[in-house]
Amino acid sequence: MDLGLKDKVILVTGGDKGIGKGISFALAEENAIPVIIGRTEKDVRSTAEEIKEKGGEAFYAIAELTDPEQCKKAIEKTIARYGKINGLVNNAGINDGVGLEHGNYKDFLRSLERNVGHYYVMAHYVLPYLKKNKGSIVNIGSKTSFTGQGNTSGYTAANGARNSLTREWAVELLPYSIRVNAVIVAECYTPLYKKWINTFENPKERLKEITDNIPLENRMTTAEEIANAVVFLLSEKSSHTTGQLVFVDGGYTHLDRAL
Ligand SMILES: NC(=O)c1ccc[n+]([C@@H]2O[C@H](COP(=O)([O-])OP(=O)(O)OC[C@H]3O[C@@H](n4cnc5c(N)ncnc54)[C@H](O)[C@@H]3O)[C@@H](O)[C@H]2O)c1
Repeated sequence: MDLGLKDKVILVTGGDKGIGKGISFALAEENAIPVIIGRTEKDVRSTAEEIKEKGGEAFYAIAELTDPEQCKKAIEKTIARYGKINGLVNNAGINDGVGLEHGNYKDFLRSLERNVGHYYVMAHYVLPYLKKNKGSIVNIGSKTSFTGQGNTSGYTAANGARNSLTREWAVELLPYSIRVNAVIVAECYTPLYKKWINTFENPKERLKEITDNIPLENRMTTAEEIANAVVFLLSEKSSHTTGQLVFVDGGYTHLDRAL
């Protein structure tokens, strides 16, 4: 299926690693132009170069996304290069373990900044450009907003906000035919996931316990599988889909895991 994404310029926050990297690659395979936005020049540049080596086009901008000015500059840099932006994938985030009993208010607010503040800021600054071409937004979210996880109040609160902002923006942007959807992830082995699993005393055993509970094929979701859903939602092929939370999780969130 041709998704019609050729030459579409799509911003991908955290597009240099993990799920975001999968999305950047999937976009390049569809002949779209991923604009990889991340904080570490070496990583961001190296992902863009990997895509180019495989024959795709990619662009990048460096930004610490918790700084709104840097978000704005990344968008301006993209406009200076391409003159248009067709889509935004809000993806960057961190499961930073700010809990209720052992956390504190300052860290809780910081977690919201790290995980949802920049979703708002990026959408806000890119909106004038998306209005010009009926662009599309995809927010990456987490199953933790439905299931809880324990010891991660900031991250789960931010993920709840990612879900409701998906609905809220879908409504607000109806007059511009800008579609807004979310892809909800449960278990995908990425650098972030590796860091989290290593916080347990016995990471290998813990990982096996988790994958044994993933209903479909008892395995983690791949970044590519998540990316395939994202590019579809960005494309014209999903032209009447908006405000949806799409679970790409091997049935983890909704199926009976006791079976
Ligand atoms: N991996 C999973 O199993 C899983 C599960 C549920 C949800 N998610 C969500 O998927 C998204 C991506 O997760 P991942 O596992 O690919 O993470 P990752 O850490 O492997 O990759 C994220 C990338 O984003 C960058 N980044 C993060 N915060 C940034 C900031 N403030 N400024 C600039 N760059 C920043 C990181 O440096 C990194 O390059 C996150 O929002 C996370 O909530 C992941």
